[in-house]
Amino acid sequence: MQDKIEKLRELSSQAELGGGIQRIEKQHQAGKLTARERIDLLLDKGTFMEFDKFVTHRCTNFGMEKQKYLGDGVVTGTGLVNGRTVFVFAQDFTVFGGSLSKTLSEKICKIMDMAVNMGAPVIGLNDSGGARIQEGVQSLAGYADIFLRNTLSSGVIPQISAIMGPCAGGAVYSPALTDFIFMVKSYMFLTGPDVIKTVTNEEVTKEDLGGCSVHNATSGVAHFATENDTDCIVKVRELMSFLPQNNMEEAPFKATIDDANRLETIVPDNPNMPYDMKEVIKKVVDDGHFFEVQEDFAKNIIIGYARLNGKTVGIVANQPQVLAGALNVDASVKAGRFVRFCDAFNIPLLTLVDVPGFMPGVSEEKGGIIRHGAKLLYAYCEATVPKVTLITRKAYGGAYDVMSSKHLRGDINYAYPTAEIAVMGPEGAVKILSRKEISEASDPVAKEKELVQEYRDTFANPYRAAELGYIDEIIEPAVTRPKLIRAFEMLANKRVGNLPRKHGNIPL
Ligand code: HXC
Repeated sequence: MQDKIEKLRELSSQAELGGGIQRIEKQHQAGKLTARERIDLLLDKGTFMEFDKFVTHRCTNFGMEKQKYLGDGVVTGTGLVNGRTVFVFAQDFTVFGGSLSKTLSEKICKIMDMAVNMGAPVIGLNDSGGARIQEGVQSLAGYADIFLRNTLSSGVIPQISAIMGPCAGGAVYSPALTDFIFMVKSYMFLTGPDVIKTVTNEEVTKEDLGGCSVHNATSGVAHFATENDTDCIVKVRELMSFLPQNNMEEAPFKATIDDANRLETIVPDNPNMPYDMKEVIKKVVDDGHFFEVQEDFAKNIIIGYARLNGKTVGIVANQPQVLAGALNVDASVKAGRFVRFCDAFNIPLLTLVDVPGFMPGVSEEKGGIIRHGAKLLYAYCEATVPKVTLITRKAYGGAYDVMSSKHLRGDINYAYPTAEIAVMGPEGAVKILSRKEISEASDPVAKEKELVQEYRDTFANPYRAAELGYIDEIIEPAVTRPKLIRAFEMLANKRVGNLPRKHGNIPL
């Protein structure tokens, strides 16, 4: 027996070395941890249960039968994050650059199938040169097997991707199908610089093409920019603390000593005084802690997670400091996807509104603001989770409708006395309605001012909406936290559904 145990230990140690000591050293020199080191950091200590440690590839092309590594370029298994089960895979760049063979794909698919059967999240730590070139179509088949599982488990279990090294070619699409993408200072692209040079004669660097800042600030592909492997994994663990295990569960409760009745000065009284919506969020939520998602992309809208009296809420808020908080293409897509994630996973939505409308302009119209704005509208319309809305200042035009208004099944709609709810801002409205009256007046400037004031008195307040029941209550800013907490508590057992259908047709 002892000799058999020795053999097992020897094989196990061999598998743990992946592509060998030299390649591990190279990985460390590049400032990267190995697949196993990453899993150790991600999971609660001592909880990793590994599968398929001795799997090897079956390829015989290009002399591959002589190059086999136990585990074949990916470490897979299950363990606990903050005491809750997750399934995990970590691509091992030391084995054929983490490239995807058919057997590697089978290992990943196995844990994806288990995750969906057990109702637990999948976390993928990516570091890969794409399809394993030696395996040809088998490798492409392996990718497709993963894409199918990503898609079928979307909305059933949370799927999280971390891009911790190159993510090239086919390697990009599995992360793209998951719910959240974290990036370290790595890169992610479909076609690399060499291909681009051949096809278009253009010289580009990997970073310009798909570096961390490109995908976090410009393309919107990624959701979190992180400093290094450790920072990335700490943030993945934190995100997990806000999420339920699957679509049948609620997010975990986290007790707080922050007083549910705490009063705060929230927004300045003067409507012309600028303020930062992130500060408003921090003043209201438990312990001032807001976990922002896509912080660097479409900054005119803020999305992220926080807790109110211990319970997770997903927050969508206009940011008046950027583009006056107007809704544009990127903001609509960013918030629309977030609303749908929250709705799929029973996370109540808090919407903070200060929006002058949709962004006007040729580039927005040509960029499809109609199609993209409709995504956010659709997402709010279909969402059946508890929805609480608070209008802090402006709620103009179509954007008033979109931002979780009563008409889209907002459950509780609050407004501050400073709210302005109207079809458009006073200046624009008066120019359209009273052009003739102003031009014919003896003092057109004074006349315009008078008409603007009249419009403001009539519409630029929350009282007309409150008279119609579109606003449930006009609240004093100081009581925001207790009011929101009570509203969400009242809504905790909300039961509303949509009609059965195969699926809707969101304007993609
Ligand atoms: C097989 C690969 C590989 C691949 C890297 N390697 N990518 N082996 N298939 N796709 C191997 C290398 O031969 C090398 O082996 C080791 O991994 C490390 O690679 P290096 O090039 O030395 O590392 P580095 O300089 O850090 O460059 C990393 C890289 C580069 C940028 C990822 O390797 C690269 O460009 N790879 C190819 C990327 C690519 O075009 N992939 C697309 C495939 S097509 P040794 O033995 O020397 O250590 C595709 C389409 C699928 O994915 C579509 C599905 C929808």
